[in-house]
Amino acid sequence: MASPAFPWWRYPAFALGVLGSEKSFRKNPLIGHPHLNELGLHRERVRLAARMAEYRRRWIGRSVSDAERQAFERDGFVLRENALPTDVFLRIRDRLKEQALPAREMRQGQAVTRMIPINPALLEKIPEVARFSGDPSIANLIRYVGGIGGDPINFIQTVIAEPALQQADPQTALHADTFHSSSKAWLFMDDVGPDDGPFVFVPGSHRLTERRLQWEFEQSLIATRDGRLHHADGSFRITPEELHQLGDFEPQKVTVRANTLVVADTYAFHSRAVSTRRTVRVELHAYHRANPFSPLAVSPVGLVPGLRDRRLDIHLSLSDRKAKKAGRQPTWRDVGACTAYSEPHV
Ligand SMILES: [Fe+2]
Repeated sequence: MASPAFPWWRYPAFALGVLGSEKSFRKNPLIGHPHLNELGLHRERVRLAARMAEYRRRWIGRSVSDAERQAFERDGFVLRENALPTDVFLRIRDRLKEQALPAREMRQGQAVTRMIPINPALLEKIPEVARFSGDPSIANLIRYVGGIGGDPINFIQTVIAEPALQQADPQTALHADTFHSSSKAWLFMDDVGPDDGPFVFVPGSHRLTERRLQWEFEQSLIATRDGRLHHADGSFRITPEELHQLGDFEPQKVTVRANTLVVADTYAFHSRAVSTRRTVRVELHAYHRANPFSPLAVSPVGLVPGLRDRRLDIHLSLSDRKAKKAGRQPTWRDVGACTAYSEPHV
């Protein structure tokens, strides 16, 4: 039965969301519907999405090396050292230290994330960045790991942890980003040691096993009412005890040298390591997510000239407009121009 909290006319859109990548049990009453989930709605979305990702990977995988395909099958992430030629890498890092660029920032507890879109204006100022954002071998690996065709969204990301504030950062809890494979990539500008707030990953947890499917089913029955907001929004958090029940899993800190590319399937469990001291991490970052049920291994977006590198700007200005209309601050605050290495503003 429909929840009285949502007007009837919104239900066609909710139904469309079920057929796409929508994941929130709280915001979409069909996805969060206890009876539909008892009948297996969430479980079957998870199962079908995994099957489709596997199907698309068969096409996309033709352009990925055997070694990287095997690393992905085993771990759910791929690590490529010396990803850019050293001179190109050093030039990018030097420019990111001195060049002020239009930036956005978001605070989550003690962590501030800065996003600097890689758009035509940035590529004009630092053309070497295209060696990351326009490199077919990097883009193919990102598509393969996420099991999704089309083009990733690229930006320069800075994560600043300020433990002195002692506020919980929700990203330090082990979680899956959503109910299906999608990928994120980081090309690290500096060495990241075990105490530098590294990425934490659970190798092998990207595979959809019967136990994982059962766990997904159990969460789907109660997620709507879960006090952890991200969990209720479909980005399931998992406790260490639950993780051990799912299999022989051990979270691992992904420590890297500068100029290492890490591409991960964020259906696997991962988090940010808790920082005990102030840390700053700067990365060339890619985000890749799309409709998990699409049979296509390509996306029509790439066919529209000039759109590829402007999608993030378009998204941000639409979000700004929506926030203004609702009378609140946008999630990603416009902080003007600063360098990737600047102090936080929010
Ligand atoms: Fe995540």
